[in-house]
Amino acid sequence: MIKLLVEPSGPLSGHIALHGAKNAVLPIMAACLLSEEASVIERVPKVADVTVMVEILRSLGVKVTVGKERLKIEPGKFSGTVAAYDLVSQMRASICVLGPLLARQGQARVSMPGGCVIGPRPIDLHLKGLEALGAVLSIEHGYIVASGRRLKGSDIQLVGTFGSSVLATGNVMMAATLAPGVTVIEHAACEPEVVDLANFLISMGARIEGQGTPVIRVEGVEKLHGSHYTIIPDRIECGTLMMATAITGGQVEIAGARIDHLNVVVDKLKEAGVIFDVRDDGVMVSAPNRLKGVDVTTQPYPGFPTDLQAPMLALMSTADGASVLTEKIYPERFMHVSELVRMGARIKREGSSALVRGVEQLSGAPVSGSDLRATAALVIAGLVAQNQTEVSGIEHLDRGYQGFEKYISSLGACIQRVPESSRTKKRELVSR
Ligand code: EPU
Repeated sequence: MIKLLVEPSGPLSGHIALHGAKNAVLPIMAACLLSEEASVIERVPKVADVTVMVEILRSLGVKVTVGKERLKIEPGKFSGTVAAYDLVSQMRASICVLGPLLARQGQARVSMPGGCVIGPRPIDLHLKGLEALGAVLSIEHGYIVASGRRLKGSDIQLVGTFGSSVLATGNVMMAATLAPGVTVIEHAACEPEVVDLANFLISMGARIEGQGTPVIRVEGVEKLHGSHYTIIPDRIECGTLMMATAITGGQVEIAGARIDHLNVVVDKLKEAGVIFDVRDDGVMVSAPNRLKGVDVTTQPYPGFPTDLQAPMLALMSTADGASVLTEKIYPERFMHVSELVRMGARIKREGSSALVRGVEQLSGAPVSGSDLRATAALVIAGLVAQNQTEVSGIEHLDRGYQGFEKYISSLGACIQRVPESSRTKKRELVSR
C-alpha cells in the first residue's frame, strides 16, 4: 500500500489546468452502449475509476481503445449483459450500465453495489425509475436482474429521502432514450454531470429537454449513433484546488475553471476571505490573509457539493473562529473528522454536523483517508501542518484525482509518494 509524505509547504503559486470530470465521464462511457456505432470521448481523466469502467465495458464484449485523455468505445453488436461482482464491487458508479444494458439488450444482470464508507447508498430510485419504464426487476444472489424487451415512456417521480439522485437520473434518462413514447423525469438531479450526460446523449441523436432543471423530458428514438464529445472540466477537482490554494495563502490561476458550476462554493470561499478574479479561460484564486470560519450545508446542485465537504472542513480547521459544516446528502460522511483531529484540528461531530474551532497551526501525523475526498482533505491539511504528514488511503485518492500529488507539487507543494512500508525519514521531495 502506498502513502503520501506531505511536508509543510509555502503558499501554492502558479498556473494549472483542470482534467475532465470523473463523475461525468463514467455515465457517458456507459451511455456509449446505447449505440452500435463507435464514440470518441475527449478530456478523459486518467483515474482508477475510469479504468474499472473500461474493464466493465470490455467484459461486456465492447472494444475500448485507451489513448492519452481519449477513449474510443466501439460497442458493435456486443453480446454481454452481466456486470460482475469483482468489477462492480470496486466502484459503485458501475450501476450506471444498468439503464443502457436494459435499453440495448432487453436484459441485464448487474451486481448490487455493496456498502460504502460514506454511508448507506441505496439504489431504490434506480429500480423505481426503470420499473416505471416497464422493466421487470428482481434481486437474485446479489445481482439486480432486469428484463424489459418493451420499455415504454412514462412519468416518473425520482425523489428520495435525501432529494434527487445523480446516477438514478442518469440511468433512467439513458434507458428512456430508446423507449418509445415520452418520459418525464420529475425531481431530476440538476448536477452539471447530468447535463453533460444529456448533452452527450443529444449528440448521439437522443431527444432530451430540460437537463439542468428538475424536470427532464425524453422522447424515445429508434436508434442512436456514435459521437465525438469532450467532457466538462472537473468542478470538484477545481474546488479542491481552490481550497488547497486558500489554506496555504497562495495564488493560483486555474485554467478551464467553470465558475458557473461552482457559484455556491465561490460565494462561501469569498465569505471566508478568498479572492477570485474571473478571467476568460478560468480564474485566479488568492488568499492573502488568514481566512475566517463560515458555515456550510451540503445540498444537491446548485447547493454546496458533498464532494467538497471534506476539503472545506480541512480549510476551516485553520480558519479564524468557528464554523459548522452540515451534511444533507450523506449524513455519515465524516470519517475524516477523527483524522483531522489527530492533526490537532478542533472538530466535534454532532449528528450530521461538524463543529469546528479553527486553530493557528495543525501538526503532522500519520493519517488515513477513507474515501477519495477525505484523502484529498488530509493532503490539503498536511500542506500547512507542522512537520511531516503521512497520508495513507491513496488508493482512494487515485480513484478520482489524476496524479494528485504531482499536480499540487507543480504549484510548489512538497509531496512524495512512497510504498507504505517505507520509513518516514526525510528524502528528496517531489517539488516544482
Ligand atoms: N439515494 C437514495 N436512493 C437511490 C440513490 C440515491 O436514497 O436510489 C440517496 C443517496 O443515499 C444520497 C442521495 O440520494 O443520500 C444522493 O445520492 P446520489 O444518487 O445522487 O449519488 P450517486 O449518484 O450515487 C454521485 C457521485 C458522488 C456524489 C453524489 C452526490 C458519481 C459517480 N458519483 O453519486 O460522487 O457524491 O452523486 O453528488 O457521479 C465522489 O466523487 O466522491 C462521489 C461520491
